[in-house]
Amino acid sequence: AHEGETDENSKQEQLEEVRENAEGEQLTTDHGVKVSDTDNSLKASERGPTIMEDFHFREKMTQFDHESIPERVVHARGSGVHGYFQPYEDPDLGDEYDDLEELTKAKVLTDPDQKTPVFTRFSTVVGSRGSADTVRDVRGFATKFYTEEGNWDLVGNNIPVFFIQDAMEFPDLVHAIKPEPDDATPQASAAHDTFWDFASLKPEITHMIMWVLSGRALPRAYRMMQGFGVHTFRLVNEEGDAKFVKFHWTPKYDTSQLVWDETQKIAGKNPDFNRMDLYDVIEEGYEPEFELGVQIFDEDEAEEFDFDVLDPTKIVPESEVPVQPIGKMVLNETPDNFFAEVEQVAFHPGNVVPGIDFSNDPLLQGRLFSYQDTQLNRFGSANWDEIPINRPIAERHNNQRAGFMRQEINEGKASYKPNSIGDDQPEEAPEGEGGYEHYAEKISGEKIRNRSESFMEHFDQARLFWNSMTEPEKQNIVDAAHFELGKVDRMEIRERMVYDLFNNVDHEFAKRVAEGIGVEPPEEPGDQMPTHGREDSRLSIEQRR
Ligand code: HEM
Repeated sequence: AHEGETDENSKQEQLEEVRENAEGEQLTTDHGVKVSDTDNSLKASERGPTIMEDFHFREKMTQFDHESIPERVVHARGSGVHGYFQPYEDPDLGDEYDDLEELTKAKVLTDPDQKTPVFTRFSTVVGSRGSADTVRDVRGFATKFYTEEGNWDLVGNNIPVFFIQDAMEFPDLVHAIKPEPDDATPQASAAHDTFWDFASLKPEITHMIMWVLSGRALPRAYRMMQGFGVHTFRLVNEEGDAKFVKFHWTPKYDTSQLVWDETQKIAGKNPDFNRMDLYDVIEEGYEPEFELGVQIFDEDEAEEFDFDVLDPTKIVPESEVPVQPIGKMVLNETPDNFFAEVEQVAFHPGNVVPGIDFSNDPLLQGRLFSYQDTQLNRFGSANWDEIPINRPIAERHNNQRAGFMRQEINEGKASYKPNSIGDDQPEEAPEGEGGYEHYAEKISGEKIRNRSESFMEHFDQARLFWNSMTEPEKQNIVDAAHFELGKVDRMEIRERMVYDLFNNVDHEFAKRVAEGIGVEPPEEPGDQMPTHGREDSRLSIEQRR
């Protein structure tokens, strides 16, 4: 076996150590005492009350009572599988670059002999843990790479842009799209006043809305959708030089989508449609494959674009920067214990390895805080990284010793640095020798709370998307808008969507939507941009003072 296979196996071996198969074993309590009867509680006489000393009853019931943990605040409904990632030998990087090592020191991306084990979780965003799979929604596409240099999480979606530009808006977005706070409806659907109210007051959402109304939000199967890192990230090489990068996953057998009528029927007949597909195909021996592609560009090229590469509501068009395939992911093993693996896996965009770094995208920057914070709530302690599915294969040495549910048992007296009492202390990596070094970006300017002027154009790429659609695809988008906005009670919300957002995308599109939802057809859009209710986010800092 070459080196790569050893790597792939090491996560499996690690997981194997904690796997159990109870076939033919004697039933015991959690403390290892053999059980003689697990159907009847201990009673004071034949038909008397249950007795407190029945430790087997108490343990069985306590375990059951504590079987659930909080579901994820978003992306609660998901399915995950194991696999591996392997870089291609000599990927074609176009005219500018010869090989990927020029661009990044991350071996996970550059060494074709390495098969890095991965765990990928696909999800819907809005619905709770038990909701149906085939709803109109964005799909999460999160991959944990257990690299030899630590865990790297690529926590993406199946749509390349996002609803908002700043993490500060995320709680509002999610409050608007989740079931309403008074009656907790509707479940897993955007077809309600609060979501469209929010959307109609946030023109930056327009591009994402076009994608969400399209078939992209109705994937036929998880193995038939694309994935995107969404934000601009950085690749950093041994010399410390950086380029910008966008990550793309492309399914080997292309994308495929359901139509709305199918999704509704399937949701009723088999709410686990996507989950079962993923599980069944792998069990039957078919291994879903995705190609990882990168768009590479530098700061100078980024300056030339007529949008800001730090704005997550924008794509970098492939006509400007082609997607270069650099490796493949193969998903080939289903989980044994859904809770232990899929429910307890914890992704975090802040988990990066040397050679991969962040950009200043204000949505990404906020995510770097949010995931760890929410996971403290979800797991009740900071030790979720010790759970087998989250544990890296890279060795770990530090001064963490305690906390709720600590599993590792370290030896020695000193858990601090510096210390002089003789216990071995893990050493920091000297400069240039493999330690994570943040890209030394030059920053200067005022500390301000503002939206960059370069983030203010919201309709050009939405129009590009609309114009790229075939007529049947356009009709699907219009039909989706009729269905979704047709459920909105307040007429002024429907009007704002048509007049302020859709009419700025495309006049014909806005008219087609208007006629299906009882809204007067809009006038041709003028030069004047609408300002309904969102003056704040449009003012520059000087104007606000
Ligand atoms: C899950 C926050 C934007 C993709 C989550 C979770 C939170 C969160 C709190 C639950 C995590 C957990 O319980 O383990 C945020 C915030 C965002 C944001 C604050 C913006 C400021 C995005 C974007 C993407 C994304 C832009 C895609 C690029 C995902 C995925 C999951 C997730 C795929 C599910 C991970 C899993 O399968 O466990 N997000 N998110 N999120 N988020 Fe985000």
